[in-house]
Amino acid sequence: MIKAPRGMKDTLTPMSEKYTYFIENTTAIAKKYGFSFIETPILEETALFKRSVGESSDIVGKEMYQFTDKGGNDVCLRPEGTAGVVRSFVENKSDRIGGKHKFFYYGPMFRYERPQKGRLRQFHQFGIESFGDENSLEDVSIIVLLKEILDFFGVNYEIKLNSLGCIECMTPYHARLKEELNNTDGLCSDCQRRKDTNPIRVFDCKNKDCQTLLKDISRLNESLCKECSTHFNSIQSMLKKLNINYELDENLVRGLDYYNRTAFEFISSDLGAQNAVAGGGRYDKLVEFLDGKPTPAIGFAIGIERLLDMIEVPMTKREGYYFGAIDEDAIEVIYTQATIFRKEHKVTISYDKKSLKAHLKAADKINAKYCAIIGEDELKADKIWIKDLEEKIESLVDCKDMD
Ligand code: HAM
Repeated sequence: MIKAPRGMKDTLTPMSEKYTYFIENTTAIAKKYGFSFIETPILEETALFKRSVGESSDIVGKEMYQFTDKGGNDVCLRPEGTAGVVRSFVENKSDRIGGKHKFFYYGPMFRYERPQKGRLRQFHQFGIESFGDENSLEDVSIIVLLKEILDFFGVNYEIKLNSLGCIECMTPYHARLKEELNNTDGLCSDCQRRKDTNPIRVFDCKNKDCQTLLKDISRLNESLCKECSTHFNSIQSMLKKLNINYELDENLVRGLDYYNRTAFEFISSDLGAQNAVAGGGRYDKLVEFLDGKPTPAIGFAIGIERLLDMIEVPMTKREGYYFGAIDEDAIEVIYTQATIFRKEHKVTISYDKKSLKAHLKAADKINAKYCAIIGEDELKADKIWIKDLEEKIESLVDCKDMD
């Protein structure tokens, strides 16, 4: 038997109902904030992710589904959505127009990680990206939008917040940090590598020994420049005004290289070890870095599987009609009737003769409001027996009155 690749899943009912319920409602909330739908290819040039997510990141360094296509192009399945949206933004010259551009997207992402609970090799994200706004109020709006989405689904979460500064304040800090790390013995091999490629990544290390060793190492938020501090303080003061609780987390450095200033994660204790339900931040230099006109930007992505694990779809109201026949002779009659009826209503037709009990059970299973049946007597009288499954009322209707 051929099985789905390791770490990849089919989306079957009831998960597929949860998925559509999530997408419909999240889309409506994102539109309310002025975002519009964008879809970019699942396959992109590998260079895109190397340049944006960064070669020092685990995502690019270890986890890419990378291959050479038949034309000899070095391509990979997208490990995340931001880089593709920025590539599209620049390629379609939206950076030249100026102004504000807001996009949302959803779909599969691919990371060759070790599968475990909450960690897949093909997973889905719902992401938003906002271009053209440097104002700290946009950072707040993005956090508020993510909060509104998670609140809509009744998810428990905590907001973790940090500032990663800018090139001006971080360049001297990185040099200092590297020196401090060079003087620290006993770091794990990953941290040894991170120290040379992107030193702030060490703060993300889950190794207990490293965490102890890193306790006294100076953190980046102590070195923020005046502009970055002001920006970060403004965000915090507005979050407080809005009564939004958050926790400052100086170890929150995010796993992708493109971030500057604001970084945030929404984590949930209802998830296992992989407790981040969503993450995001500012990436003011990425458009420029991908050959566009300098454009500030900020966004986030929600891990859809992780979120769906924590929610239930509310019971939907009964809806539509179920049509069925008890005898072979009545199947064509009921089929014709139902086909006419389908123009106006949600209709499910059974092509098989079945007992009344079996039809009622099938109608109930699909949550139909009405079960419409033709048996021997109804066929003779040119009538249809209808039961309202919600009100539990039965009636006989003339076929000609049905439309
Ligand atoms: P990320 O933190 O790498 O950020 O991923 C966002 C979310 O995707 C995570 O919080 C998690 O819920 C989910 N996720 C990540 N990896 C997996 C996995 N292997 N299995 C299941 N779920 C996973 C980004 O991808 C950025 N592009 C977010 C962003 C948008 N930043 C700015 N704009």
